[in-house]
Amino acid sequence: MSDSDAIDAVGEDGDTDRRGRPVPTGVPLLELRKLSKHFGAVEALTEVDLQVHAGVVTALVGDNGAGKSVTLKTIAGIHPPDGGLILWEGRPVHIRAPKDAASLGIETVYQDLALCNNLDIVQNMFLGRERSRGIFMDEDSMETAAVETLKSLRTTTVKSVRQTVASLSGGQRQAVAVAKAVMWNSKLVIMDEPTAALGVAQTAMVLAMTRRLAERGLAVIFVSHNFNDVFEVADQIAVLYLGRLVASIPAAHLDRQMVVDLVTTGTTTRAIATSTNQIGA
Ligand SMILES: Nc1ncnc2c1ncn2[C@@H]1O[C@H](COP(=O)(O)OP(=O)(O)OP(=O)(O)O)[C@@H](O)[C@H]1O
Ligand SMILES: [Mg+2]
Repeated sequence: MSDSDAIDAVGEDGDTDRRGRPVPTGVPLLELRKLSKHFGAVEALTEVDLQVHAGVVTALVGDNGAGKSVTLKTIAGIHPPDGGLILWEGRPVHIRAPKDAASLGIETVYQDLALCNNLDIVQNMFLGRERSRGIFMDEDSMETAAVETLKSLRTTTVKSVRQTVASLSGGQRQAVAVAKAVMWNSKLVIMDEPTAALGVAQTAMVLAMTRRLAERGLAVIFVSHNFNDVFEVADQIAVLYLGRLVASIPAAHLDRQMVVDLVTTGTTTRAIATSTNQIGA
């Protein structure tokens, strides 16, 4: 299957998402064009085309080894691509290192790795970007900003922003990592399997927080193997199959069986719920 056969239904005129909002049709915040990446003989990504819009949660799904993490790491500056283009707000950019991604406003939230266990929540949220007043750190203003940002996400159950991250649950860590992204005015938040290790209540909290990011106008890329989570949170579902992007479709136009078909075979014979969407030959 060539990339032109991919099922692509982003932003057809008149499309609405599952919440009845128009699907964005403007310039994507992030666009991957024919992005390729190999590791020796392994073709991890082959000519991946993907558009990610502000205010939209894009779920990236695919089987083990399909290329989801490599895609994220390419956007995050960990694995520079071998071929293709990355466009940011319509302009080609080179993301060669994590700091390039950060300076564009891309924040990646990993399950455990993003935070320093031995530091407290405030220290984590300001790590490397501490506020000072004269020769002293401005602890009060940092603490206030941390508390306000966490409150604004209306999800956190942390008792004190002065507790160390080591003492937090997985869901609370996610909340802190996401709050950090919000506080630093990120435009794109990337979440790789954010709910994989979480219980029911914490998963619900992370999903609610993810929706809130999109409502604030951020773009979110959400990788998950859990289709319940995907259908609950995603506006757009993009499917990778053996390193190729085989579909990018509003979630409202898909059902679970179609996503299972796309993930396991790279195509689906079921009709997609709109006349504007095409299945690749
Ligand atoms: N650093 C690396 N060196 C060599 N091969 C790699 C490396 N990272 C990924 N790969 C290969 O690239 C392919 C895609 O891997 P990737 O980690 O993106 O899969 P994934 O879709 O995230 O899978 P999972 O659902 O298991 O996390 C796999 O074949 C993997 O073995
Ligand atoms: Mg992965």
